Amino acid sequence: MTLNADTTSSDSPEGALAVRVWRGGATGAFQTFEVARRPNQTVLDVVTEIQREQDPTLSYRFACRVGMCGSCAMVVNGRPRWTCRTRAAAVVERDELTLEPLRNLPVVKDLAVDMEAFFAKWRDAKGFFEPGPEPANDFAVVEPSTPKRQAADAGVECINCGVCYSACDLVAWNPDYLGPAALNRAWTLVNDVRDKGQTARLAAVSGDAGCHSCHSHMSCTEFCPKALAPTFAIAGLKRATARRLWRRG
Ligand code: SF4
Ligand code: SF4
Ligand code: FES
Repeated sequence: MTLNADTTSSDSPEGALAVRVWRGGATGAFQTFEVARRPNQTVLDVVTEIQREQDPTLSYRFACRVGMCGSCAMVVNGRPRWTCRTRAAAVVERDELTLEPLRNLPVVKDLAVDMEAFFAKWRDAKGFFEPGPEPANDFAVVEPSTPKRQAADAGVECINCGVCYSACDLVAWNPDYLGPAALNRAWTLVNDVRDKGQTARLAAVSGDAGCHSCHSHMSCTEFCPKALAPTFAIAGLKRATARRLWRRG
């Protein structure tokens, strides 16, 4: 059942949630739906129930439902999260849920954002493996205990969900800032002993919109659902780019 736009129900029947959902694009309004509480219900279940049972025009994204694809991220009661791995009961406040699209990205419609700028920054940070002019034919052996391998391992599980990017105030202030996810990826590659693109990568991440802009206020690290630490990866890039400058000087 659809309730009044931009209102929440103060008299929700017991066992129901009042779910405020952003509708529209950059401009729009909240629309409130009433959804029954169910055992083990995730926030993604709530959104899916609205779309299937109440309003098929509601736009949102998901794919895996198990925390692998990263496509279901939204802002839930003010905080970016994977909705498929967030139980509604854990985050409701006074029987209310407020769902918004990820911040710092253009809204396509409702809860779906355009991720193009996010992925373009991975490219700009040279967040891709560079094998060099003569790629090795065989597998490289990289000992798990080496410091570089461990530094790469610490950030390699990123699934590109955009939660950290949505949480970063610096991206909001400076839309050109490469952002925590792209810089975290760059750091994993800086520590990849097989990679042959380090000079270009360190140059790419050391510009005005690169690692040295980061204020280290840790929102990305606090909110990353994979418990990665982009702040520390960025600190590593700051050190690596500074060393490179000293060597050149
Ligand atoms: S630590 Fe840096 S990248 Fe992370 S949220 Fe803060 S400013 Fe953004
Ligand atoms: S670093 Fe974490 S929050 Fe950021 S895109 Fe990767 S998995 Fe998502
Ligand atoms: S639907 Fe894939 S991570 Fe949530």
